[in-house]
Amino acid sequence: MWNKVQETVKFLQKKGITAPDYGIILGTGLGNLVEKIDIEITIPYEEIPNFQVSTVSGHSGELIFGTIGTKKVIAMRGRFHYYEGWSMEQTILPVRVMKFLGVENLIVSNASGGVNPNFQVGDIMLITDHINFMPEHPLNGPNDERFGPRFVDMHEPYSLEMIAKMEQIALKFNIPVHKGIYLALQGPTFETPAEYKMVKILGADAVGMSTVPEVIAAKHLGMTCFGISVITDLGIEGKVEAVSHEEVQKAAKIAEKSIGKLVEEFVKF
Ligand code: HPA
Repeated sequence: MWNKVQETVKFLQKKGITAPDYGIILGTGLGNLVEKIDIEITIPYEEIPNFQVSTVSGHSGELIFGTIGTKKVIAMRGRFHYYEGWSMEQTILPVRVMKFLGVENLIVSNASGGVNPNFQVGDIMLITDHINFMPEHPLNGPNDERFGPRFVDMHEPYSLEMIAKMEQIALKFNIPVHKGIYLALQGPTFETPAEYKMVKILGADAVGMSTVPEVIAAKHLGMTCFGISVITDLGIEGKVEAVSHEEVQKAAKIAEKSIGKLVEEFVKF
């Protein structure tokens, strides 16, 4: 893993990518943010050593380097999901690559199903915490101290300072946001009504199929994380309706502009 990460880092440095201020993983709903980036370099995943080619429609695979205001950003347009069959190591490799390119701050976004009865489709949730319900842990196996310690502190997985900063921006631009806990399941099935109920009983506000492995990897590396989620469907008892990938994408579009604005302002200042 170490050699692979270093190989990818060297490749990207040769392409001209240096010390970005922010790493951004653009999940469903954050596609719009690409328009806010003054793009300097775009590299398709198939050209990047050790990157996978995303198999999910709506998750195109390219790495983007550029600026938002005076800040340098590296953005993954398309992420690797565990349910695609990638190993956890393959899923988190880009986060490790970002770290060794010099990234200290990671912004992740995703789409999720809301189980909090106050949520509606198209709502935005700032992730305050997560519950890892993935079947495999990304740090399982012998620990490589060059990435981080064996036992990783997770007392503040999502930066309280960054959440407070984002709440202020949301207030300033009159964009309503919720705060809540994200629970990650493997997928690719959406949840049954009983599973949504379980998610709620376990203490989460939303459920999805990504983000948690990347954030765990980032915390292992000592990075600061911020997460934002679009509620694309509801898993609320008595209200669970049929859901499809197309509907998730359509619902994510509702919030795309707002999330783009929020993250643009967040990165700029
Ligand atoms: N469950 C899991 N993942 C999701 C959902 C959901 O309801 N919506 C968007 N991603």
